[in-house]
Order: sequence, then C-alpha cells, then structure tokens
Amino acid sequence: MSWLHALIGGLWIVLPAYIANGAAPVFGGGARMDFGKKLRGKDLLGAGKTWRGFFSAVASGTFIGLLQIVAWPRLNEFASGLGYSLPMMTLTTAFILSTAAMLGDVIASFFKRRFSIERGGSVPLLDQLDFMVLSIPAALLLSEITYSSATILVVITPPIHYLFNLLGYYIGVKDVPW
Ligand code: CTP
Ligand code: MG
Repeated sequence: MSWLHALIGGLWIVLPAYIANGAAPVFGGGARMDFGKKLRGKDLLGAGKTWRGFFSAVASGTFIGLLQIVAWPRLNEFASGLGYSLPMMTLTTAFILSTAAMLGDVIASFFKRRFSIERGGSVPLLDQLDFMVLSIPAALLLSEITYSSATILVVITPPIHYLFNLLGYYIGVKDVPW
C-alpha cells in the first residue's frame, strides 16, 4: 500500500473527527460544560468548552459520516479504477469518532487549566492534536485503517489544523489563530 493510499484512507476515516473539531467554534456558545465550576481556584474546563459546541460538533461529524456512506459506492468505484479502495464508513464509526474528538478536546482543556493556561492560551501540538488523541485509537479499532495511516495523520494534522484555524480566525469564528 502506497503512502498516498494510506493518507487518503486515513483522512476518509477521520473526516468526521476533523469536521466535529471544526464545527465546535462555528456553532459553540451558551452554557459552559463546567457550569462555571472551579478546581483549586482555576476554571475546571474554561469558557471555551460549551455543551452546544460539543453536541453540534458530534452532530456535524455524524452527519458527514452519513454523506460519506451515501457517497461511498461511487467514490469507491472511482478509486478501484485507480487500483485503490476506500475504507467503509458507518454511522457508528462517524458518531464514535466525533465524540472521541470532542472528548479529547475537553480533556486537553482540563489539563491546560490545571497548568494555569488561560482559555485560548496556546500549547503547540496539544492544541492541534487533542482531538486525535482518542479518535485515532478509535479509528484503528473501528475501521480497517493501518498504523501507517494513523502515523501519517498524526504528522500532517498539526499543519492542516493550523491552516484551518488561520482561516477560522480570518472569517471570525476563532478568537485566536491557533
Ligand atoms: N467550542 C465550544 N465547545 C466545545 C469545544 C469548542 O463551544 N466543546 C468552541 C469555543 O467557542 C472555543 C472554540 O470552539 O473557543 C475553539 O475550541 P478550542 O480551540 O478547543 O478552545 P479554546 O477557546 O482555545 O480554549 P482551550 O484553551 O480550552 O483549548
Ligand atoms: Mg482545543
């Protein structure tokens, strides 16, 4: 299997996690997931984690999974013509990957607050990979993607994430460009 095959298969499977992570800043707001609670004087999670952000992200990622299921036969036929095959998406996989993405993001905020890093404060690599910490293991368990795919994804996600956040910052859905 070529690296390109591993990359495309991997991106296809983690697409719901990517979409979930990108949807949170677009739809987020309202009630905080930590309900304003503090732990030893510091925010439990901070104002950047909201229930609406969490659930709209899971819904968006799952919805993309549905579109992927619908598009799969044609795309896979096209891929077979090139000697490739596209892994199959299921609704369960899309739902679990989106949920895992948002849980990873919550866990990262929990640890950032414990280390006194304010909401939105930058922690390179953690900020870009937090949503993958749980979703990559989930993808390895639930789909046929390989360890090479997972490795490629971990390497290319920080730059991709960075570019999309710059975009989010310029269109005004992100307060900071990371
Ligand atoms: N968001 C949300 N609910 C979530 C996750 C994200 O509402 N469960 C929204 C918030 O508006 C948040 C934005 O998406 O500001 C970007 O998410 P993220 O970069 O993870 O949050 P930060 O604001 O950078 O906060 P933190 O320092 O806790 O990561
Ligand atoms: Mg985050």
